[in-house]
Amino acid sequence: NKNIIVAIDGYSSCGKSTLAKALAKKLHFIYVDSGAMYRAVTLYFLRNQTDLSNHDLIIDALEHIDLNFHSRDYQSHILLNGEEVSEEIRQMPVSENVSKIAAIKEVRQAMVKQQQKMAKSKNMVMDGRDIGTTVFPDAQVKLFMTADPKIRAERRYKELLSKGEKVALEEIFENLAHRDYLDTTREESPLVRADDAIILDNTDLSEEEQLNFALDKIKPFL
Ligand code: C5P
Repeated sequence: NKNIIVAIDGYSSCGKSTLAKALAKKLHFIYVDSGAMYRAVTLYFLRNQTDLSNHDLIIDALEHIDLNFHSRDYQSHILLNGEEVSEEIRQMPVSENVSKIAAIKEVRQAMVKQQQKMAKSKNMVMDGRDIGTTVFPDAQVKLFMTADPKIRAERRYKELLSKGEKVALEEIFENLAHRDYLDTTREESPLVRADDAIILDNTDLSEEEQLNFALDKIKPFL
């Protein structure tokens, strides 16, 4: 009875975390949002006004960054050096810089190490860009999510609006496209579908339909 890992990868704002959370709730698995970790690291450097093109500086500073999830089940609340930053990491300055930071090899190595540690003997759903390829290549179930880019931008737009953030739809569209570009073209574990990942295009699917689709794939392993 090995622990079960569900790896969810895909483009930006495809609804990965919505599905991952729903699955974790339904199955009583732990949920880890790996993107939140890259975002928190980025926030640290933005706050310190670090020159983001100075990789040596960034790599040296990594040891001063302590990331933790708020509760034992790793639900979405993330702590950066003890401070809850779950809201701030969703704002545009972080979204605009995170993919640059996430392309740095040493940053990725540090995150991957922590992510692998969290899964020790626990059933887990983790979403991100390299979960099925690099973090958990042996995951029992791998999903690769995609959706129409316009729909993705609209979803993110509504999400930010509901939190009171005023951002133009066009700006969000550009940001998603830019992040997808950087994430798929970087040298270090780029976003790519693992050979054994099941594609889930949710352009026309409700959240419930996506949940049922995924549960169907996971059931054989329960
Ligand atoms: O998932 P989210 O959109 O919050 O991730 C923000 C960014 O973090 C991504 O655009 C990507 O650059 C980076 N990321 C990554 N690997 C992961 C998760 C996120 O490179 N596993």
